[in-house]
Amino acid sequence: MDPYDLVVVGSANADLVVAVERRPEAGETVLGSDLVTHPGGKGANQAVAAARLGASAALLARIGADGHGDLLADSLRGAGVDTSGVLVDGTPTGVALITVDPSGNNSIVVSPGANARLTPQDVRQAEPLLAAARVVSLQLEIPLDTAAEAVRTAVRNGTRVVLNPSPPAPLPADVLAACDPLVVNEHEARHLLRAAEHGAADAASPHEWAAGLLAAGPRSVVVTLGERGALVADADGVLPVPTPRVEAVDTTGAGDAFTAALAWRLARGEALADAARFAVRVGALAVTRPGAQESYPTLEEVDQGRRAEPGTEAVER
Ligand code: RIB
Repeated sequence: MDPYDLVVVGSANADLVVAVERRPEAGETVLGSDLVTHPGGKGANQAVAAARLGASAALLARIGADGHGDLLADSLRGAGVDTSGVLVDGTPTGVALITVDPSGNNSIVVSPGANARLTPQDVRQAEPLLAAARVVSLQLEIPLDTAAEAVRTAVRNGTRVVLNPSPPAPLPADVLAACDPLVVNEHEARHLLRAAEHGAADAASPHEWAAGLLAAGPRSVVVTLGERGALVADADGVLPVPTPRVEAVDTTGAGDAFTAALAWRLARGEALADAARFAVRVGALAVTRPGAQESYPTLEEVDQGRRAEPGTEAVER
């Protein structure tokens, strides 16, 4: 089997998106925009983002035999993702209910559907795919034991592991130790540190979160901080990586684009800090368009540092 830069093991969702002026309180009803359906899911998003940048990428996932599954299959194939590992299930495709506010921030509830049926046995059957990868990238919208099986399979085959624990869950020690890097946002960082009863959970400084997470066992850590960029932590210390400034339209899936770009550059042999410097530019461009997969830039767009639309020029801070 030809080597892949990146094999993603993760979710595929139809994103049902409504724009709102503000989110409702408990017991309250608000009116929003017309409903828009986008291809999404953290796993499919990463695979599409990497392929759009030029990576050879494959996805191991489960979708349903329904219209949402067709939407996802079309998006993946359109981006050039190898879908031989995308299994079709008898349950509905996963769905994400998303509200986006005027600042571009989102809130997401996922109904896992077929994602919940991706099993450790599916991973074992896909071992040749994972063994052919330079990097395997995972998130946690699939069962934890399936993700753990994929990490262990990657380790057994000498493949680098990138893990975004989203939504956060307690990770087995060997899974955490394999992460190179563990990629977390602020919410995930605090959650994992609290679960580890680490004092840095309530620390004001993201620098302390990064150091605290690194001490918990992974080989390296990346903390994403939105418009404040990212922090890279490894044996050499903690390094800030600034991000270009952009007009945010919709932040949905920007973290997935960041992680995919990071994983792809690591697969090409770049140092973690250099890969993160590239990835923040990809993540920044992803927030300038609505949706997840449809918002991801090509390598040419990243190199230009801008979109065709006016008002979205990326400026280094
Ligand atoms: O990270 C963004 C993604 O989270 C969305 O595409 C949605 O499907 C949820 O999985």
